[in-house]
Amino acid sequence: VIDASDQNTTHPAVPVVSELSSSTRLTGTGRDVLRMESQHHQIQNVTLTRGLLSASNTILRDCVGSRGALVVYSSSVARLYGRQIRDYFESQVSEPANFMVVDRAESSKSMAAVIEVCERAADVGLGRTSPIIAIGGGVCSDISGLAASLYRRGVPHINIPTTLIGLIDAGIGTKTAVNHGGRKSALGAFHPPEHSLLDAGFLVTLPRRHLRNGLAEIIKLATVSSPELFTLLARDVSTLTSSNFQTPSRTAERVILLSVNGMLTELSHNLFETADYRRKVDFGHTFSPYFEVASGHAILHGEAVALDIALSSQIATILGILTEEDLDQILSLIQESGLSLSWGAMSVDTLWASLPAVAKHRDGDLNLVVPVGIGACDYLGMGAISPQLLRAGHERLQQRSHGTSTFSADRLDVSV
Ligand SMILES: NC(=O)c1ccc[n+]([C@@H]2O[C@H](COP(=O)([O-])OP(=O)(O)OC[C@H]3O[C@@H](n4cnc5c(N)ncnc54)[C@H](O)[C@@H]3O)[C@@H](O)[C@H]2O)c1
Ligand SMILES: [Zn+2]
Repeated sequence: VIDASDQNTTHPAVPVVSELSSSTRLTGTGRDVLRMESQHHQIQNVTLTRGLLSASNTILRDCVGSRGALVVYSSSVARLYGRQIRDYFESQVSEPANFMVVDRAESSKSMAAVIEVCERAADVGLGRTSPIIAIGGGVCSDISGLAASLYRRGVPHINIPTTLIGLIDAGIGTKTAVNHGGRKSALGAFHPPEHSLLDAGFLVTLPRRHLRNGLAEIIKLATVSSPELFTLLARDVSTLTSSNFQTPSRTAERVILLSVNGMLTELSHNLFETADYRRKVDFGHTFSPYFEVASGHAILHGEAVALDIALSSQIATILGILTEEDLDQILSLIQESGLSLSWGAMSVDTLWASLPAVAKHRDGDLNLVVPVGIGACDYLGMGAISPQLLRAGHERLQQRSHGTSTFSADRLDVSV
């Protein structure tokens, strides 16, 4: 169990009034202020386990207790694990649970889906302490997490991620969001899961492209914050990928643990993203929105993150702040993971034009995260980069991937 909080309390997090300065007498000045100051204590549990749905595993049963629950899963999870999930709840959990399938993809991750979940919760009379449990990828956890933040002004949320992105990112984060008005993650809430239960066994059935998608986020963390994680990946990434993260089992477990720990550490410093706009976890997330949008979302998020990691690292080397040797290690890891270094159709002008919007979201400056070694990073402002630099970086990456833009047939052909 990883405790990302600094205080011990139970859900729901209750504001503790530490100071209430007020007077029962009006001052007669026409300006009387009652000020309530409260501290929001937050605890978030992440449990790593195997065989979560087997009858001998009591973790899920213990988490739910006798509170009842609404279990929300995606259609592929229903097809692959629906029977097991229902059997588990019927045989293990004392209070009957309710189930619903949320048949949504990224393109339909919308408020309508959130309302569907809230309406189902209301229909089954879900109580205010009963959890909504998401079993699926990031789309499922985002929809049900946002529903959990809204229904009865917030009920507990339990995440059981079944994708690699879910295990190391979407399923343990504090944020939930859906797309709206053509904008990605336009409506959302900070609603941390009460508990995330991680079982890498679900990855056995995950399509390889989605596995690589998650791998990109792990490469991100490894490159800027964990030399140990980087070394493990550099050694075993081919086997991890071909076995869907089942072997070498020790490495798979350690990689997931280090990734989760890295993510929670970053979160605990800056839970509501108000403290600092220099965030290591933004590595790979400055140019990536351009790649996703410009490809009409044919390039998945993680694939775009890999392209961004490659370009940001190449830029750092051109600027002389990352050695050629370290750059080679980073680019080799991306390639060995089966991810691409460059996108043949990239337009430097459109990419350049997309950057002010990114800077605006980071309080005015780009804060481009660049590695300065394996496990260390620095931040570059808008003034440090230029279209010429982007073009030079892109050309070098094209040369390294022999101009082929290695999006291969089993994933996607977006090379032009
Ligand atoms: N809230 C956050 O902090 C956060 C963080 C990262 C990503 N996200 C969001 O997560 C989404 C991406 O998540 P994702 O990559 O998990 O995608 P996803 O939820 O779309 O899942 C990918 C595909 O795999 C299927 N699937 C899920 N588990 C499976 C399994 N075990 N076996 C076979 N198929 C399975 C799904 O049904 C889906 O078709 C995006 O919408 C992104 O915005 C949110
Ligand atoms: Zn990401």
